[in-house]
Amino acid sequence: MSNNLGREELKKKRDKYMVPGLKHLYAEPPHFVKGKAQFLYDEKGNEYLDMFAGIVTVSVGHCHPKVLEATMKQVQTLQHTSTIFMTQPMVDLAEKLAEITPGSLSKSYITNSGTEANEAAISMARLATGRHEVIVLKHSYHGQSHLATSMTSNHNYRQGTMPASGIAFAENGYCYRCPFKKTPDSCNLECAKDLERVIQTQTSGAPAVMIAEPIQGVGGAICPPDGYFQEVKKILDKYGALFISDEVQTGFGRTGNHMWGIQNWGVQPDMMTMAKGLGNGFPIGACITTPEIADKSQKAVINTFGGNPVSSATAIAVIETIIEEKLQANSKLVGDYLIDGLKDLQKSFPIIGDIRGKGLMLGIEIADPETKAQMPAECAKIVETAKDEKVVIGKGGLWGNTIRLKPPMSVTKADADRCLGAMRKGLEAVSKVAARS
Ligand SMILES: Cc1ncc(COP(=O)(O)O)c(C=O)c1O
Repeated sequence: MSNNLGREELKKKRDKYMVPGLKHLYAEPPHFVKGKAQFLYDEKGNEYLDMFAGIVTVSVGHCHPKVLEATMKQVQTLQHTSTIFMTQPMVDLAEKLAEITPGSLSKSYITNSGTEANEAAISMARLATGRHEVIVLKHSYHGQSHLATSMTSNHNYRQGTMPASGIAFAENGYCYRCPFKKTPDSCNLECAKDLERVIQTQTSGAPAVMIAEPIQGVGGAICPPDGYFQEVKKILDKYGALFISDEVQTGFGRTGNHMWGIQNWGVQPDMMTMAKGLGNGFPIGACITTPEIADKSQKAVINTFGGNPVSSATAIAVIETIIEEKLQANSKLVGDYLIDGLKDLQKSFPIIGDIRGKGLMLGIEIADPETKAQMPAECAKIVETAKDEKVVIGKGGLWGNTIRLKPPMSVTKADADRCLGAMRKGLEAVSKVAARS
């Protein structure tokens, strides 16, 4: 019997039986037993507004009826075969992905997670170019396998084990803390130009591929300036390296203006990886590329669960729902509304140092107004207070001082108001502590 334990009892059991690296977001975590649309419910029936979507995953709302129907129908019909047998849902999903991705991206490898999609993408890029070295951005997060952790530029998620070799780190477009101490009006995109120095000084001069998140998710919604990825792509083309857009967080309309994050910069990637929002909570990921690149990987690959009929049928229903319910447009509408509300809050609470992101992929960096010193304890207090107000918001960034708002894309302006109200309570709580000390 699941879901029958009280919060305290469950916390103790989790500590006893789960590995210690599985940390809670909260000091006092609720026990969630049910989800519906943009709401979560604890074991006592309390309703929480979910503004973090299970780490940017519940794209169309918890237990969406259309998605559930597709999952249930498939689970009752055919659950599993593995990739060595021919089934239709995986192929239908690949066709759908080809339809909604730009350019000639049309050949997919369906996986179980974003990590696995990134592993596959790097492997295909290496085979296609006959080269090996990989470039990533500082503050990136690409997953938890050996290679993906090594491509993650955030010590909080890198275990103290030997990393994979052949990975170089370029500067990200982090205007609030510009690595070159410039301002966007006169920076001449120094951050993007850094890539050429990285290629010349940290690689053989012939790297295979660069992988980057259009807006860095775990890194704290770090959103590069206009022109950034255009410049990056120009440099990669000059050195004959491929470009993978890691759309695990930014994909499926979340950034509002486009279906894919990288389209905000008008750049055509050679490959895209995706996961999270694709399954609305069902484990699935995918890597999509061009026929020319895919056809360089001819050796057999088996994936026991990747592209299984149930997750594929679920993902198709998720994509259809995003399109039918115009959730991309809603991400833009509610995202812009949230940004306006956050700017209002900033006037009263100057520890809101930076508000950034696009659509429903927003970051709010909490920092000392004068020195910009990161304020992780205050950020944690705001997140915890919002939870006590029954609003779930996320937290992240290299220093843990960035609030992350990335809700199901079905949230409304009324939900945004409720979220801003809870954040105000959190900011007031932090201000009171500051006034006392
Ligand atoms: C940008 C990005 N890439 C890859 C991953 C890894 O995905 P998964 O946790 O499904 O393996 C994540 C997870 O947070 C992510 O944010």
